[in-house]
Amino acid sequence: MEAILQTGGDLVTNNIGLGGAVIPNTAAKKGTNSKQKNKSKIAASPETPVTAKSWTPSTVAGRWCGLGPYYAMFPVGFAREVVESYCPPGGVVADPFCGRGTVPFVAMATERQAVGCDINPVAWVYAKVKTDPHPDKGDVLERAKQIREAICSDDHIAENEFQEYAWSSSVLGYLNAARRLLDWRGSSIDRTLMATLLVHLHAKLGDGFSNQMRQSKSMAPLYSVKWWKARGMLPPVVDVIEFISARLAWRYAKGIVPVTGNRPQIELEDGRTAIAALADDFAANLIFTSPPYCGVTNYRYDNWIRLWLLGEGPAIANGNTKQRYVNKIEYQKLLSETFAACSRKSSEDATIYVRTDAREFTLQATITALHEAWPNKSFFVTPSKFGKATQTALYGDAGSKPGEMDLLLLPQGRKAPDKFMPLHVTGNAGLVKL
Ligand SMILES: C[S@@+](CC[C@H](N)C(=O)[O-])C[C@H]1O[C@@H](n2cnc3c(N)ncnc32)[C@H](O)[C@@H]1O
Repeated sequence: MEAILQTGGDLVTNNIGLGGAVIPNTAAKKGTNSKQKNKSKIAASPETPVTAKSWTPSTVAGRWCGLGPYYAMFPVGFAREVVESYCPPGGVVADPFCGRGTVPFVAMATERQAVGCDINPVAWVYAKVKTDPHPDKGDVLERAKQIREAICSDDHIAENEFQEYAWSSSVLGYLNAARRLLDWRGSSIDRTLMATLLVHLHAKLGDGFSNQMRQSKSMAPLYSVKWWKARGMLPPVVDVIEFISARLAWRYAKGIVPVTGNRPQIELEDGRTAIAALADDFAANLIFTSPPYCGVTNYRYDNWIRLWLLGEGPAIANGNTKQRYVNKIEYQKLLSETFAACSRKSSEDATIYVRTDAREFTLQATITALHEAWPNKSFFVTPSKFGKATQTALYGDAGSKPGEMDLLLLPQGRKAPDKFMPLHVTGNAGLVKL
């Protein structure tokens, strides 16, 4: 299936694959694509993010909102619609599974307070930089140059065949030095530089530092090497500093998103403990999230190349399934404990908005956990929005195609928008009735 990704503010289709045609993207080399070329004729919006109708690349929010190719992320327009509909200006939004930080970013840019957490370090770097980048791009570029000066001869040595074919020797030298030296947890300069490296670590030829690869998901290493060898494809020689400089120039061209209150709190932590650790008087007006889907995406494996650059994973993927949630009991526990923590840190009249997988187990586990956490809220669902998640899907009709569903929990008596229909939950989610 083709997914639309936003990378660096660009709209990119995610159906390239290793086997895709190699189309050098010359516009992208200049830090823009043809779509943006047209848009660049539009004058910079004088509006603040909160008032700009649409966050196109001519706005500051449009420059930052797409930061970080990541799997299963929210479209920014959708996130904005939910935040603006269900959280008052100045209110508080929490996302316990925030991924690349779409929800906290949107909350910040529309003048709400926000907390987000994720256990994946790649997601955390994107979310943190997106909501709180180092304000001076000159410092980031200076640091990029320092890293180049610190490259030593060992940094050029490939640890395996994948690395040999993925990056040229000069690029690999740079990446290894960055890997050794960047303090992405502690320094905003280093984190902003690391985010720039992560975004372009692997991509279509011409769009990043690597041989032909997808920008979204990390590819299987053996398959990739075989594919490159069969086509005689060698990694491109990229001037890393020139490349970073162009990308930073594009990203910072409209400045950074201004804030009225605090910047969002973004934690690299399990959602259960991170939310539970919030101050006793923390009360979110909106819990807005999308949990991992049971047995579907493995956020570690899908990010193994980027995790390697962060020093958080091996130099070659090992098929680790730690973040896939194949164990149904563990999965139910994760959702129940996370939403229970959220319930304790949300206001009495809070709205809960969850986008999840329409397949039976994930959906039932989500409804169960939500009902345990908020037994007194009214439940609503968008059964037909994706055209796939029907009542039969709720009951596990194997013939139904998987899709996503939106679950909305409102204080009793509040009306849901027309696209939602009421969902009666009878204590045991196995007895869900539409
Ligand atoms: C569907 S994605 C969320 C994407 C997000 N809405 C966005 O726009 O980027 C689910 C996220 O949950 C994270 N996750 C999985 N288990 C977690 C846990 N125990 N605590 C916090 N985050 C977790 C994954 O790393 C993944 O980023």
